[in-house]
Order: sequence, then structure tokens, then C-alpha cells
Amino acid sequence: MTRFAGKTAIVTGASGGIGSATARRLASEGAWVFCCDVNSQAGEVIAAEIGGAFLRLDVTSEAQWQDVAKTALAHSGQIDVLVNAAGIEGELSQGGLATTYAEYRKVMDINLDGTLLGCLAIMPHMVEIGRGAVVNISSIVSFMGTPSALAYGISKAGVEQLTRSMALIGAENGGRVRCNSVHPGVIKTRMTDNIIHTFAQGAGISDEEAEAGVNSAVAFGERGEPEDVAAMIAYLASEEAGYVTGASFRVDGGWSVTSAG
Ligand SMILES: NC(=O)c1ccc[n+]([C@@H]2O[C@H](COP(=O)([O-])OP(=O)(O)OC[C@H]3O[C@@H](n4cnc5c(N)ncnc54)[C@H](O)[C@@H]3O)[C@@H](O)[C@H]2O)c1
Repeated sequence: MTRFAGKTAIVTGASGGIGSATARRLASEGAWVFCCDVNSQAGEVIAAEIGGAFLRLDVTSEAQWQDVAKTALAHSGQIDVLVNAAGIEGELSQGGLATTYAEYRKVMDINLDGTLLGCLAIMPHMVEIGRGAVVNISSIVSFMGTPSALAYGISKAGVEQLTRSMALIGAENGGRVRCNSVHPGVIKTRMTDNIIHTFAQGAGISDEEAEAGVNSAVAFGERGEPEDVAAMIAYLASEEAGYVTGASFRVDGGWSVTSAG
């Protein structure tokens, strides 16, 4: 497929599991991808592999977002796609009423404010030309209470709400700047490896046993692949989704419709 031939995309969290799979998918369909992340080492390798460019970006920095916008516009003249995939799970030993405000702020700064800053920096250039696609990575946990990951759940629910407002802003004055959110379930990345490992340590069981517990809550019985999420992101970023905006899409192997989920 060449859905992104001649298009320019910015992907944050591009050194990570879902972000790198997304960068690869968009590039494989013809996009020039700016891979953005705080992790330069992995990001530079991925950008080189897909024939794109790495830009070091801390998504919490307004100034760095402006630099990314300037570089992308200078290179390509316009930005067609923004994927906000940078995120952290936060300190797992905290949670519930033990959550510190400092920890809460850290998670909110990256997951929610980082996504907001991305929209504020890039969307005006899309609005100017009347088209573009933004895909924000939320989580399946945005639909439920998350007492053991208080800040994470709040940040991801915020991303979904932010997405709805951005969708309406993008549709003002006849614009077709679309904005949607993707809600992964349990996907095989560093993030869920860490969550499973931490849970296993706390419960005094092996990582394999902890993973089996996680898998048993998923209708398909296993964690998803980053490519499963990248496929949904690519659809939403493409013209095929031209009439889709302000919507939330689950990629969770049926986890959220099981009684465990
Ligand atoms: N893996 C899952 O099961 C799952 C489920 C639901 C939602 N998500 C969301 O998907 C997104 C990607 O997560 P992942 O599983 O690929 O994790 P990951 O840890 O593999 O990737 C996250 C990336 O974000 C980067 N990052 C962290 N802080 C940053 C900052 N301040 N500025 C720029 N980059 C920063 C990291 O360096 C890393 O490369 C996250 O938003 C995560 O919350 C993941």
C-alpha cells in the first residue's frame, strides 16, 4: 500500500514499541517520518532503518515542539500526520492514596501535557491548509477506574477528552483536520514487560506466571503486537479514514469486553 506517498509524519515515542512500529508502518507506505523521542540512541537507529530522520524531542518542552515544527516544515513544506505515542507508566510501587503529587505531575506532564503541546504546536499548520490527521495514543484504561495506576488512568482519560475537543477545532471553518484516539489493551512492549515484572515481584511469582495471569484476562489469550496498534494508527492517519474524527478506537484483543477486563 502507498497510502502515505508524498506525506510527512511526526511520530513521538518513536524509539519505543508502539511508536517504532508506527514509524515503520507509515514509512513502509511511503511517508517521510520524523521519529521523535528522548531516547536518541534507539531513535537514530530506527530513523536510519526506515529512511526518515530522528529529532530529539522531550514532549514536555514547548520550545522543543516549536523546533520540531520548524524543522518539519522547512523539510517538507507541510505536516500531514501527527502521532502522539510518547508515554510512561509511572512509578508502579505508588498508586491509590500513596500516589505522590510529584509522581502524578510527572505522568501527567508527559502523557497528557505532552500530547496537548504536540497538538498546539502542529495542528495550526494543518488548520492553515485545511487538512491533516492527528492520532493520540490513549489506553483501554481510559474507560475504567485504575486505583493502582491513578495518574496513568487520569492522564489517558484526559488524552481521550483532549482528542474530542481537537477534533471539533480541526473541523471549524470547513476544515478536515481529523483527530482520533487509539486505546491499546496489553501490547508486547517494554512498558508491559516492566508492569508484568513488577507485578510478579510484588506477588512473589515468576514473570511467566504473571504474564499467564494477564493473558487469561484477554479474550484472545495473549498480549497484542505493536504492529496490531500501528495498523489502526495507520488507518486513522490515512485518507481512508477521511470521515472519521473525534472517535476512540480499542485495539485490545477483546480484553475490555471480558468480565476480567
Ligand atoms: N504497551 C501497552 O500495552 C500500552 C497500552 C495502552 C497504552 N499504551 C500507550 O502507548 C504509548 C507507547 O507505549 P509503549 O508501550 O510503546 O511503551 P515504550 O516504553 O516502549 O515507548 C514509550 C516511548 O516514549 C518515550 N518517551 C517517554 N517520555 C518521553 C518524553 N518526555 N518525550 C519524548 N518521548 C518520551 C520513551 O523514550 C519510549 O521510547 C504510550 O503512550 C503508552 O501509554 C501502551
